[in-house]
Amino acid sequence: MATQTKRTKPTTVAAPGTRNLPSALEIIRGLNEVARSLEPFHEGTSSLEQVACGVDRLLRPKGVAILTRLRPGEIAFRHATGVLHECSGFTLSGRPCALLEDLLLRDEVVLFHTRQQSPWAREFLFAAGMQGGALAPIRAHGEPLGALLLNHAVPFRFGAEHAAGLQSLATMAGVAILEDAQRTKLEDLFMSVIVSLTMAIEAKDPYTEGHSVRVAAYSEAMGKRLGLPSSQLDVIHRACLLHDIGKIAVDEGILHKGERLDRREKEKMDLHPLIGESILRPIELLWPLLPGVRSHHEHYDGTGYPDGLKGNAIPVEARIMAVADAFDAMTSDRPYRRALSEQAALDELRRNAGTHFDPRVVAAFEEIFPAVKRTLEHMRPRQEMVSAPR
Ligand SMILES: [Fe+2]
Repeated sequence: MATQTKRTKPTTVAAPGTRNLPSALEIIRGLNEVARSLEPFHEGTSSLEQVACGVDRLLRPKGVAILTRLRPGEIAFRHATGVLHECSGFTLSGRPCALLEDLLLRDEVVLFHTRQQSPWAREFLFAAGMQGGALAPIRAHGEPLGALLLNHAVPFRFGAEHAAGLQSLATMAGVAILEDAQRTKLEDLFMSVIVSLTMAIEAKDPYTEGHSVRVAAYSEAMGKRLGLPSSQLDVIHRACLLHDIGKIAVDEGILHKGERLDRREKEKMDLHPLIGESILRPIELLWPLLPGVRSHHEHYDGTGYPDGLKGNAIPVEARIMAVADAFDAMTSDRPYRRALSEQAALDELRRNAGTHFDPRVVAAFEEIFPAVKRTLEHMRPRQEMVSAPR
């Protein structure tokens, strides 16, 4: 079978019934709009999403995908929209990956359509009924990072200006990928410093050692059971690791008191969610964690603190953390009381479902508990069946 590849310069893919794409001037205007939208650490929408939106506006395909090179021989669909949406999260290997690697090395925009019977068309028209497409390599600092792919439902007139526009968008995608990697590195750095601090505080108190890690394991599993997206599960996990960071500012005499706190001491202890929030707020990268940290002692019936929030007004991550936090506290020895048994703690959660706790979250906890318990068992010797978190 003939394998003819169409390239940009000065190629135009055209056929009867073709559709016209925007003019060169419209492309330049559109590129400027995308470039302006790529603010570092843009709130809400990621830079890769902005690039994909830009491709959508400028070249009007049926589907757009941004693929990133994980390692030689493995390229993943990092972001995909339109008819290619279902490819999101998939990884290419074998022949499609080898073809893409070849393209990345040659550093050229490639155009293809079904009548060419090119290898590109056979491999990269991912959605059913698509007639044509284009691939632009994504490179930065001379390194291949991935590719920008479009699929069109009908043949199209793709001129040199459209290829140049696509290549510019691929360059922006490269900047976005590098920015994303940088952001992840920074987040990891901040997290490692703050988690180390939390662990150091917990390690000073044998009654709370490992508490945040267990709360994180229970909470992430509950969030997954409740159908939350993976990005929110990640926020929950990290917020749990830091939820009691505010205890740094609480007097050790109160933290380690061998009997119940008096009213004045309890008032000081109850400030820890607000102190925790104020510790983390200066770090913009950690802002998504603030609602969970601030509200993990709110009660479903509005009797909690610091804001007395009620029902669904309490952020879902905080409703989840409250159940995990309470269970782990109840099943751990404290200086002033012995731990409850797991069964007694589960009964206590059920008894307080609808008052202290969101009933849906308590139900999720009961479902995930056996599996998470097995995972955690190697982390601490379980006390006999191991009461409310301070
Ligand atoms: Fe707490």
